[in-house]
Amino acid sequence: MDFKDPLDEMTGGIASGGSSEGGAEVELGHLPVMAGEVLETLAPRPGSLQIDATLGGAGHAERALEASSPDGRLLGLDADPAAIARSARRLARFGDRVVLRQVNFERLAEVAPAAGFGQVDGLLLDLGLSSFQLVDVERGFGFRAGGRLDMRFDTSRGRSAADLLASYDQKELTALFSRYGEEPFSGRIARTIVETRSHSPVETAEQLAALVERAVPAPKARRTHPATRVFQALRIAVNDELGALEAGLAASLVLLRPGGRLVVLSYHSLEDRIVKRFIAAEQRGCVCPPEVPVCVCGRSPKLRSLGKSRTPSDEEVAANPRSRSARLRGAERLAA
Ligand SMILES: C[S@@+](CC[C@H](N)C(=O)[O-])C[C@H]1O[C@@H](n2cnc3c(N)ncnc32)[C@H](O)[C@@H]1O
Repeated sequence: MDFKDPLDEMTGGIASGGSSEGGAEVELGHLPVMAGEVLETLAPRPGSLQIDATLGGAGHAERALEASSPDGRLLGLDADPAAIARSARRLARFGDRVVLRQVNFERLAEVAPAAGFGQVDGLLLDLGLSSFQLVDVERGFGFRAGGRLDMRFDTSRGRSAADLLASYDQKELTALFSRYGEEPFSGRIARTIVETRSHSPVETAEQLAALVERAVPAPKARRTHPATRVFQALRIAVNDELGALEAGLAASLVLLRPGGRLVVLSYHSLEDRIVKRFIAAEQRGCVCPPEVPVCVCGRSPKLRSLGKSRTPSDEEVAANPRSRSARLRGAERLAA
Protein backbone atom coordinates (compact mmCIF):
# COMPACT_ATOMS: atom_id res chain seq x y z
CA MET A 1 0.00 0.00 0.00
CA ASP A 2 1.32 3.44 -0.90
CA PHE A 3 1.15 5.98 1.89
CA LYS A 4 2.30 8.81 -0.29
CA ASP A 5 -0.95 10.09 -1.78
CA PRO A 6 -2.66 11.41 1.35
CA LEU A 7 0.69 12.62 2.60
CA ASP A 8 1.59 14.75 -0.32
CA GLU A 9 -1.08 17.17 0.83
CA MET A 10 0.78 17.46 4.11
CA THR A 11 4.16 18.15 2.54
CA GLY A 12 5.70 21.55 2.71
CA GLY A 13 2.87 24.02 3.02
CA ILE A 14 1.13 21.94 5.65
CA ALA A 15 -2.58 22.45 6.13
CA SER A 16 -3.03 25.69 7.96
CA GLY A 17 -5.43 26.56 10.71
CA GLY A 18 -4.16 25.38 14.11
CA SER A 19 -1.88 28.26 15.08
CA SER A 20 -1.62 29.19 18.75
CA GLU A 21 -5.09 28.04 19.73
CA GLY A 22 -4.52 24.60 18.20
CA GLY A 23 -1.11 24.54 19.90
CA ALA A 24 -2.60 25.16 23.32
CA GLU A 25 -5.11 22.38 22.81
CA VAL A 26 -2.35 19.99 21.74
CA GLU A 27 -0.08 20.98 24.61
CA LEU A 28 -2.79 20.14 27.12
CA GLY A 29 -3.49 16.84 25.35
CA HIS A 30 0.03 15.45 25.34
CA LEU A 31 2.94 16.93 27.23
CA PRO A 32 6.23 16.13 25.50
CA VAL A 33 8.30 13.94 27.83
CA MET A 34 11.77 15.09 28.96
CA ALA A 35 11.54 17.91 26.44
CA GLY A 36 14.55 19.78 27.85
CA GLU A 37 16.76 16.69 27.86
CA VAL A 38 15.63 15.67 24.35
CA LEU A 39 16.46 19.10 22.96
CA GLU A 40 19.76 19.27 24.81
CA THR A 41 20.79 15.91 23.32
CA LEU A 42 19.55 16.54 19.79
CA ALA A 43 20.97 20.08 19.88
CA PRO A 44 19.17 21.20 16.69
CA ARG A 45 20.90 24.17 15.04
CA PRO A 46 19.86 26.62 12.34
CA GLY A 47 20.20 24.95 8.97
CA SER A 48 20.07 21.42 10.42
CA LEU A 49 17.88 18.54 9.23
CA GLN A 50 15.94 16.63 11.89
CA ILE A 51 13.61 13.64 11.83
CA ASP A 52 10.90 13.18 14.43
CA ALA A 53 9.73 9.65 13.62
CA THR A 54 6.96 9.69 16.26
CA LEU A 55 5.21 13.04 15.95
CA GLY A 56 2.25 12.37 18.29
CA GLY A 57 1.10 15.86 19.29
CA ALA A 58 4.25 17.44 17.75
CA GLY A 59 5.46 18.88 21.08
CA HIS A 60 9.07 17.77 20.56
CA ALA A 61 8.90 18.64 16.86
CA GLU A 62 7.72 22.18 17.60
CA ARG A 63 10.59 22.73 20.03
CA ALA A 64 13.14 21.36 17.56
CA LEU A 65 11.82 23.70 14.86
CA GLU A 66 11.96 26.68 17.21
CA ALA A 67 15.52 25.82 18.24
CA SER A 68 16.65 25.44 14.63
CA SER A 69 15.13 28.73 13.43
CA PRO A 70 15.22 30.30 10.95
CA ASP A 71 15.97 27.57 8.42
CA GLY A 72 16.30 24.16 10.12
CA ARG A 73 13.97 21.60 8.54
CA LEU A 74 12.11 18.65 10.03
CA LEU A 75 10.64 15.45 8.62
CA GLY A 76 7.81 14.26 10.87
CA LEU A 77 6.37 10.76 10.73
CA ASP A 78 3.55 9.02 12.51
CA ALA A 79 1.67 5.83 11.67
CA ASP A 80 -1.52 7.40 13.02
CA PRO A 81 -3.41 9.59 10.50
CA ALA A 82 -4.97 11.59 13.36
CA ALA A 83 -1.50 12.46 14.72
CA ILE A 84 -0.42 13.69 11.29
CA ALA A 85 -3.52 15.86 10.91
CA ARG A 86 -3.07 17.33 14.40
CA SER A 87 0.66 17.96 13.86
CA ALA A 88 -0.03 19.60 10.51
CA ARG A 89 -2.22 22.15 12.29
CA ARG A 90 0.24 22.74 15.08
CA LEU A 91 3.28 23.10 12.83
CA ALA A 92 1.58 25.12 10.07
CA ARG A 93 3.40 28.29 11.07
CA PHE A 94 6.74 26.73 10.11
CA GLY A 95 5.62 26.47 6.47
CA ASP A 96 7.98 24.60 4.14
CA ARG A 97 10.46 23.90 6.92
CA VAL A 98 8.27 20.87 7.71
CA VAL A 99 7.54 17.71 5.74
CA LEU A 100 5.04 15.21 7.14
CA ARG A 101 4.46 11.60 6.21
CA GLN A 102 1.88 9.18 7.58
CA VAL A 103 3.97 6.05 7.69
CA ASN A 104 5.36 3.49 10.09
CA PHE A 105 8.97 4.31 10.97
CA GLU A 106 9.92 0.72 10.14
CA ARG A 107 10.12 2.19 6.60
CA LEU A 108 12.33 5.11 7.66
CA ALA A 109 15.36 4.05 5.57
CA GLU A 110 13.35 4.35 2.35
CA VAL A 111 10.91 7.16 3.29
CA ALA A 112 13.45 9.70 4.60
CA PRO A 113 15.74 9.84 1.51
CA ALA A 114 12.65 10.02 -0.74
CA ALA A 115 11.48 13.06 1.25
CA GLY A 116 14.88 14.79 0.92
CA PHE A 117 16.15 13.73 4.37
CA GLY A 118 18.82 11.22 3.32
CA GLN A 119 21.53 12.60 5.67
CA VAL A 120 20.31 14.21 8.86
CA ASP A 121 21.63 15.79 12.05
CA GLY A 122 19.10 14.33 14.45
CA LEU A 123 16.61 11.49 14.79
CA LEU A 124 14.07 11.21 17.59
CA LEU A 125 12.05 8.10 18.47
CA ASP A 126 9.58 8.79 21.31
CA LEU A 127 8.06 5.33 21.50
CA GLY A 128 4.63 4.02 22.38
CA LEU A 129 1.40 5.93 22.32
CA SER A 130 0.33 9.51 22.95
CA SER A 131 -2.19 10.77 25.48
CA PHE A 132 -4.51 11.55 22.56
CA GLN A 133 -4.61 7.88 21.63
CA LEU A 134 -4.92 6.76 25.26
CA VAL A 135 -8.00 8.85 25.94
CA ASP A 136 -9.74 8.21 22.62
CA VAL A 137 -12.38 5.62 23.57
CA GLU A 138 -12.76 4.50 19.96
CA ARG A 139 -9.14 3.31 19.82
CA GLY A 140 -9.35 0.90 22.77
CA PHE A 141 -5.90 1.71 24.24
CA GLY A 142 -7.16 2.63 27.74
CA PHE A 143 -8.88 0.35 30.27
CA ARG A 144 -12.07 2.33 30.40
CA ALA A 145 -12.45 2.74 26.67
CA GLY A 146 -15.96 1.69 25.72
CA GLY A 147 -15.32 1.19 22.00
CA ARG A 148 -13.98 -1.87 20.21
CA LEU A 149 -10.49 -3.01 21.19
CA ASP A 150 -8.61 -1.69 18.19
CA MET A 151 -5.13 -0.54 19.32
CA ARG A 152 -3.75 -0.01 15.81
CA PHE A 153 -1.63 3.13 15.43
CA ASP A 154 -2.41 3.01 11.72
CA THR A 155 -6.16 2.56 11.60
CA SER A 156 -6.14 1.84 7.86
CA ARG A 157 -4.32 -1.49 7.95
CA GLY A 158 -3.53 -4.60 9.96
CA ARG A 159 -5.43 -6.63 12.54
CA SER A 160 -7.01 -5.11 15.63
CA ALA A 161 -6.50 -6.33 19.20
CA ALA A 162 -10.09 -7.68 19.19
CA ASP A 163 -9.18 -9.78 16.12
CA LEU A 164 -6.15 -11.23 17.89
CA LEU A 165 -8.20 -12.01 21.00
CA ALA A 166 -10.81 -13.77 18.88
CA SER A 167 -8.44 -15.82 16.72
CA TYR A 168 -5.37 -16.79 18.80
CA ASP A 169 -5.61 -20.12 20.60
CA GLN A 170 -4.90 -20.42 24.31
CA LYS A 171 -1.24 -21.29 23.78
CA GLU A 172 -0.69 -18.34 21.45
CA LEU A 173 -2.40 -15.94 23.87
CA THR A 174 -0.29 -17.24 26.76
CA ALA A 175 2.90 -16.73 24.73
CA LEU A 176 1.82 -13.25 23.67
CA PHE A 177 1.08 -12.03 27.22
CA SER A 178 4.25 -13.55 28.54
CA ARG A 179 6.57 -12.37 25.75
CA TYR A 180 5.32 -8.83 25.24
CA GLY A 181 3.83 -8.15 28.68
CA GLU A 182 6.14 -10.26 30.90
CA GLU A 183 2.83 -11.12 32.58
CA PRO A 184 3.26 -13.70 35.38
CA PHE A 185 -0.37 -14.90 35.10
CA SER A 186 -0.45 -15.17 31.30
CA GLY A 187 -1.72 -18.79 31.34
CA ARG A 188 -4.65 -18.01 33.64
CA ILE A 189 -5.59 -14.92 31.67
CA ALA A 190 -5.43 -16.77 28.34
CA ARG A 191 -7.62 -19.57 29.73
CA THR A 192 -10.20 -17.08 31.02
CA ILE A 193 -10.31 -15.35 27.63
CA VAL A 194 -10.83 -18.62 25.77
CA GLU A 195 -13.58 -19.69 28.21
CA THR A 196 -15.32 -16.32 28.04
CA ARG A 197 -15.24 -15.99 24.27
CA SER A 198 -16.85 -19.43 23.86
CA HIS A 199 -20.13 -17.79 24.95
CA SER A 200 -19.54 -14.05 24.33
CA PRO A 201 -16.83 -12.27 22.34
CA VAL A 202 -14.23 -10.13 24.17
CA GLU A 203 -14.40 -6.97 22.11
CA THR A 204 -14.10 -3.89 24.30
CA ALA A 205 -11.29 -2.57 26.49
CA GLU A 206 -13.68 -2.46 29.42
CA GLN A 207 -14.56 -6.17 29.01
CA LEU A 208 -10.92 -7.18 28.77
CA ALA A 209 -9.87 -5.13 31.80
CA ALA A 210 -12.68 -6.65 33.91
CA LEU A 211 -11.84 -10.15 32.69
CA VAL A 212 -8.15 -9.80 33.63
CA GLU A 213 -9.11 -8.43 37.03
CA ARG A 214 -11.21 -11.58 37.60
CA ALA A 215 -8.50 -13.93 36.32
CA VAL A 216 -5.56 -12.79 38.46
CA PRO A 217 -5.24 -12.94 42.26
CA ALA A 218 -5.85 -9.60 44.00
CA PRO A 219 -2.48 -8.09 44.97
CA LYS A 220 -1.89 -6.77 48.50
CA ALA A 221 -0.87 -3.37 47.21
CA ARG A 222 -1.47 -2.20 43.68
CA ARG A 223 0.46 0.52 41.84
CA THR A 224 -0.99 -0.15 38.41
CA HIS A 225 -4.15 -1.72 37.01
CA PRO A 226 -3.86 -5.55 36.85
CA ALA A 227 -4.51 -5.45 33.10
CA THR A 228 -1.60 -3.08 32.34
CA ARG A 229 0.72 -5.83 31.07
CA VAL A 230 -1.97 -7.49 28.97
CA PHE A 231 -2.84 -4.20 27.28
CA GLN A 232 0.83 -3.50 26.67
CA ALA A 233 1.34 -6.96 25.16
CA LEU A 234 -1.61 -6.61 22.80
CA ARG A 235 -0.54 -3.16 21.66
CA ILE A 236 3.00 -4.34 20.97
CA ALA A 237 1.74 -7.32 18.97
CA VAL A 238 -0.91 -5.40 17.01
CA ASN A 239 1.64 -2.79 15.88
CA ASP A 240 4.70 -5.06 15.75
CA GLU A 241 6.32 -2.38 17.88
CA LEU A 242 9.54 -4.21 18.62
CA GLY A 243 10.10 -5.14 14.96
CA ALA A 244 9.54 -1.50 13.98
CA LEU A 245 11.97 -0.35 16.65
CA GLU A 246 14.73 -2.66 15.36
CA ALA A 247 14.18 -1.36 11.82
CA GLY A 248 14.08 2.29 12.95
CA LEU A 249 17.33 1.91 14.89
CA ALA A 250 19.04 0.23 11.95
CA ALA A 251 17.89 3.10 9.71
CA SER A 252 19.57 5.62 12.01
CA LEU A 253 22.99 4.26 10.95
CA VAL A 254 22.22 4.99 7.32
CA LEU A 255 20.54 8.36 7.85
CA LEU A 256 22.63 10.13 10.48
CA ARG A 257 25.61 12.03 9.20
CA PRO A 258 28.84 11.90 11.27
CA GLY A 259 28.17 13.84 14.45
CA GLY A 260 24.38 13.37 14.02
CA ARG A 261 22.44 12.42 17.13
CA LEU A 262 20.00 9.58 17.84
CA VAL A 263 17.61 10.05 20.79
CA VAL A 264 15.22 7.34 21.94
CA LEU A 265 12.60 7.62 24.68
CA SER A 266 11.32 4.20 25.71
CA TYR A 267 8.61 3.34 28.23
CA HIS A 268 9.14 -0.29 29.18
CA SER A 269 12.02 -2.69 29.61
CA LEU A 270 11.44 -4.63 26.37
CA GLU A 271 11.97 -1.47 24.34
CA ASP A 272 14.80 -0.14 26.44
CA ARG A 273 16.68 -3.45 26.25
CA ILE A 274 16.62 -3.32 22.45
CA VAL A 275 17.86 0.28 22.40
CA LYS A 276 20.57 -0.37 24.97
CA ARG A 277 21.87 -3.45 23.14
CA PHE A 278 21.77 -1.70 19.78
CA ILE A 279 23.86 1.23 20.99
CA ALA A 280 26.30 -1.07 22.82
CA ALA A 281 26.74 -3.30 19.73
CA GLU A 282 27.26 -0.38 17.35
CA GLN A 283 29.66 1.26 19.78
CA ARG A 284 31.73 -1.94 19.94
CA GLY A 285 31.86 -2.50 16.21
CA CYS A 286 33.81 -5.77 16.10
CA VAL A 287 31.64 -8.87 16.48
CA CYS A 288 34.44 -11.47 16.50
CA PRO A 289 34.16 -14.05 19.29
CA PRO A 290 36.50 -13.35 22.24
CA GLU A 291 38.68 -16.39 21.43
CA VAL A 292 39.68 -14.90 18.03
CA PRO A 293 42.99 -13.07 18.76
CA VAL A 294 42.79 -10.57 15.88
CA CYS A 295 39.63 -9.02 14.44
CA VAL A 296 38.53 -10.74 11.26
CA CYS A 297 35.02 -9.24 10.94
CA GLY A 298 36.35 -5.81 9.99
CA ARG A 299 33.39 -4.00 11.55
CA SER A 300 34.19 -0.61 12.98
CA PRO A 301 32.23 1.29 15.67
CA LYS A 302 29.40 3.36 14.19
CA LEU A 303 28.03 5.01 17.31
CA ARG A 304 29.30 6.68 20.44
CA SER A 305 26.98 6.37 23.41
CA LEU A 306 26.14 9.71 25.01
CA GLY A 307 26.39 8.28 28.50
CA LYS A 308 24.05 6.48 30.84
CA SER A 309 20.30 6.47 30.31
CA ARG A 310 18.35 9.34 31.85
CA THR A 311 14.94 9.43 33.51
CA PRO A 312 12.55 12.32 34.15
CA SER A 313 13.00 14.57 37.18
CA ASP A 314 10.69 14.20 40.18
CA GLU A 315 9.15 17.54 39.22
CA GLU A 316 8.30 16.31 35.74
CA VAL A 317 6.78 13.06 37.05
CA ALA A 318 4.67 15.04 39.52
CA ALA A 319 3.47 17.38 36.75
CA ASN A 320 3.04 14.63 34.15
CA PRO A 321 2.62 11.17 35.72
CA ARG A 322 2.62 9.55 32.26
CA SER A 323 6.32 10.39 32.00
CA ARG A 324 7.21 8.21 34.99
CA SER A 325 8.42 5.16 33.08
CA ALA A 326 10.39 7.11 30.44
CA ARG A 327 14.04 6.34 29.81
CA LEU A 328 16.13 8.40 27.43
CA ARG A 329 19.18 7.07 25.59
CA GLY A 330 21.28 9.01 23.14
CA ALA A 331 24.11 8.22 20.76
CA GLU A 332 26.21 10.07 18.19
CA ARG A 333 27.03 8.75 14.72
CA LEU A 334 30.75 8.32 14.18
CA ALA A 335 32.50 8.93 10.88
CA ALA A 336 32.57 5.79 8.71
C1 LIG B 1 4.68 9.08 22.74
S1 LIG B 1 3.89 9.61 21.28
C2 LIG B 1 4.94 10.88 20.69
C3 LIG B 1 4.68 12.20 21.33
C4 LIG B 1 5.47 13.34 20.72
N1 LIG B 1 6.88 13.19 20.91
C5 LIG B 1 5.01 14.69 21.25
O1 LIG B 1 5.84 15.49 21.67
O2 LIG B 1 3.80 14.95 21.21
C6 LIG B 1 4.24 8.31 20.17
C7 LIG B 1 3.67 8.48 18.78
O3 LIG B 1 4.39 7.60 17.93
C8 LIG B 1 3.52 6.95 17.05
N2 LIG B 1 4.16 5.67 16.73
C9 LIG B 1 4.43 4.65 17.57
N3 LIG B 1 5.06 3.67 16.91
C10 LIG B 1 5.19 4.09 15.63
C11 LIG B 1 5.79 3.52 14.47
N4 LIG B 1 6.36 2.31 14.49
N5 LIG B 1 5.79 4.25 13.33
C12 LIG B 1 5.23 5.49 13.30
N6 LIG B 1 4.64 6.07 14.37
C13 LIG B 1 4.63 5.38 15.53
C14 LIG B 1 2.22 6.83 17.79
O4 LIG B 1 1.15 6.77 16.86
C15 LIG B 1 2.20 8.11 18.63
O5 LIG B 1 1.50 9.12 17.97
